[in-house]
Amino acid sequence: MSEGPVYYHEYLQLDRLLDAQRPLSVERGRPAHDELLFIIVHQAYELWFRQILHELESVLAVFAQPTVPERSMGRVVAHLERIHAIQRIMLDHLDVLETMTPLDFLEFRDLLVPASGFQSLQFRLIENLLGLDPERRLPINDAPYLTRFSDDHRALLEASQRRPSLFDLVEAWLERTPFLEVGEYAFWASYRGTVDAVLAADRALIEANPNLTEEGRKEQLVRFDATAATYASLFDDDAYAELQAQGERRMSRTAFLAALLINLYRDEPILQLPFRVLQSLMDVDEGFTAWRDRHALMVIRMIGAKIGTGGTSGHDYLKDTARAHRVWADLFDLATYYVPRSLLPELPASVARVMRFHLDVAAGGDPTP
Ligand code: HEM
Repeated sequence: MSEGPVYYHEYLQLDRLLDAQRPLSVERGRPAHDELLFIIVHQAYELWFRQILHELESVLAVFAQPTVPERSMGRVVAHLERIHAIQRIMLDHLDVLETMTPLDFLEFRDLLVPASGFQSLQFRLIENLLGLDPERRLPINDAPYLTRFSDDHRALLEASQRRPSLFDLVEAWLERTPFLEVGEYAFWASYRGTVDAVLAADRALIEANPNLTEEGRKEQLVRFDATAATYASLFDDDAYAELQAQGERRMSRTAFLAALLINLYRDEPILQLPFRVLQSLMDVDEGFTAWRDRHALMVIRMIGAKIGTGGTSGHDYLKDTARAHRVWADLFDLATYYVPRSLLPELPASVARVMRFHLDVAAGGDPTP
């Protein structure tokens, strides 16, 4: 760039940017009008992916510290919220792309084989940094996803897999929550009493429901008992480990309980920001699930039941990734274990004192309890 006054066109490197749309159909001598739109929409996505990675790196840097400073939490939430705002725009891009009809797409689709959005390096880096579980990642035609990338890109992806992901770092942060056991007070013993009372009341409602047939009552009770059994896993290491072995739970039990505590007692000022962090993580997870679902719907509209240019089953594969590639399913499952606010055991004075003490220290004020 020149040393002179900043010039709009130069600052944004628009010569390079606007020279980067080269429709293959034009190069091959059979111009297809809509290929430019197809390229621009993909490029717009890649720019947003770049911004998402930028925000993610900053969030990762905060959580990578041995002690996560309370005063960085606001920034973490702001960056996660920005990612979520970008995700809303990402959905709208698909509306623009859908102004291209399947017949218009067919004009140039075959030229793209074997390339596919499947090979978006940045999309895969985002997945890895967020913490998509490699065990749950769906293979592509029985081969690992890495086989579809160039050597350079594969090396970058492998390096990203070796880094602690946001999932790993947030899980460790939750495990360090200081309020789970304070002095004599074991929160979970008291919470369990409440849960048992709520469960007994729920079961009685099913047993007494006059609108149920005997068959329906039996079915509901079986379902109810299955859910009640997962409640037990909260208080029992072995039962929790069993859920993990079945792939029903990913987070450690300690982290899961900490997240539950944060959600239940979010009205405590010290838990407000951690609560918003958890909410933002769920927003981002839901944002990607929504995009995957929406992309899958667009794909069936564009190519019907045909296989993708990248060789997957197309729509079916994409629908499956929307479920299998979620990172924070555990946080969504927490809602199963909520009890009404009015029934929550009150925090004893000793715990409230410790929470206030931490709040004062975080604010840099007088920590004298
Ligand atoms: C006409 C429009 C599009 C069609 C027909 C289409 C089709 C497909 C298909 C069939 C797949 C599965 C892999 C394969 O077999 O190729 C796929 C994957 C993918 N596409 Fe698209 N796509 C379109 C537009 C886009 C756009 C605009 C983006 C934005 C970057 C995108 C990003 C992706 C990504 C990231 C994957 C991998 C998804 C995963 O593995 O979870 N696609 N696409």
